[in-house]
Amino acid sequence: MKHWILAGAAAASVALVGPAQAQQPIVLNFSHVVAQDTPKGKGALKFQELAEKYTNGRVKVEVYANSTLYKDKEELEAQQLGAVQMLAPSNSKFGPIGIKEFEVFDLPFILPDKTALRRATDGPFGKKLLKLLEPKGMVGLAYWDNGFKLMSANRPLREPEDFRGLKFRIQSSKVLEAQMRALGAIPQVMAFSEVYQALQTGVVDGQENTPSNMYTQKMHEVQKYTTLSDHGYIGYVVTVNKKFWEGLPADIRGNLEKAMAEATHYSNEISQKENDEALDDMKKSGKTQFIELTAEQKARWKKALQPLYTDMASRVGKGVIEEFEKAAQGTTN
Ligand code: LMR
Repeated sequence: MKHWILAGAAAASVALVGPAQAQQPIVLNFSHVVAQDTPKGKGALKFQELAEKYTNGRVKVEVYANSTLYKDKEELEAQQLGAVQMLAPSNSKFGPIGIKEFEVFDLPFILPDKTALRRATDGPFGKKLLKLLEPKGMVGLAYWDNGFKLMSANRPLREPEDFRGLKFRIQSSKVLEAQMRALGAIPQVMAFSEVYQALQTGVVDGQENTPSNMYTQKMHEVQKYTTLSDHGYIGYVVTVNKKFWEGLPADIRGNLEKAMAEATHYSNEISQKENDEALDDMKKSGKTQFIELTAEQKARWKKALQPLYTDMASRVGKGVIEEFEKAAQGTTN
């Protein structure tokens, strides 16, 4: 693996400084873990189209979807080494490289809706979080939306007690780990590409994800019940290797920024519809039974998860949680 990463890093730098620079396009590899037919998958393809158009082909964007180039943890390591130029990991995946603050997005029920989300990401608070990536050799270019999460298992999940003893796949976030423990479940960190099989073979009993991710990975086919809980949010930070980015000619970087701004707008515009359609398709399939929570049940989920706001303050930062909440409410921006 290390060899492969380093060989990639060498190839990427040759592409920038080699003798054939005038003729050869600059290759920008964009790796991600979800299907093409998702908000992130479509956003990456839109960026590819616009980046090649605005640079008149001087930049060639190669998109690798569905973990075909790297899985979750590997992709972040590869980007830090310069083996891959662009990624869009979810907010829940930066902890293992030492950035814990993005896990604030994982606090259950922290975002009432997308308007609050945009307030948090698009103002000074969102920009401040992106700056945390730079000491790690990455530049944060944009926030891309996915959506609110469902909970699924082979047991109906209505009350917090229903989670007791179930093994749940989670992303690599300590906040998500604490969330599952607070519900009495056993969390298991696992790469996204392995979830379907783990559910199918019973390695884990349940998982949480957005409708578009569940549907495109066919998770609904191997989960008897899915709860419409909207208990948390999945979104992304589009990151680029800092050395690569700063080494680009200024005009090219400017054109890529323009392409990114438009691709961001596009991806954030389609995210709700993509998730609504995926939910409809899963409902039509009849493969998983959907459960709606009553207001009282939801209140009990919230009560069971409320302690995370204090328990996770030392992990995410008390100030970060407060600033996030204020930004989301629109009381600081
Ligand atoms: C997951 O690992 O469940 C998601 O973060 C995958 C993704 O990139 O949406």
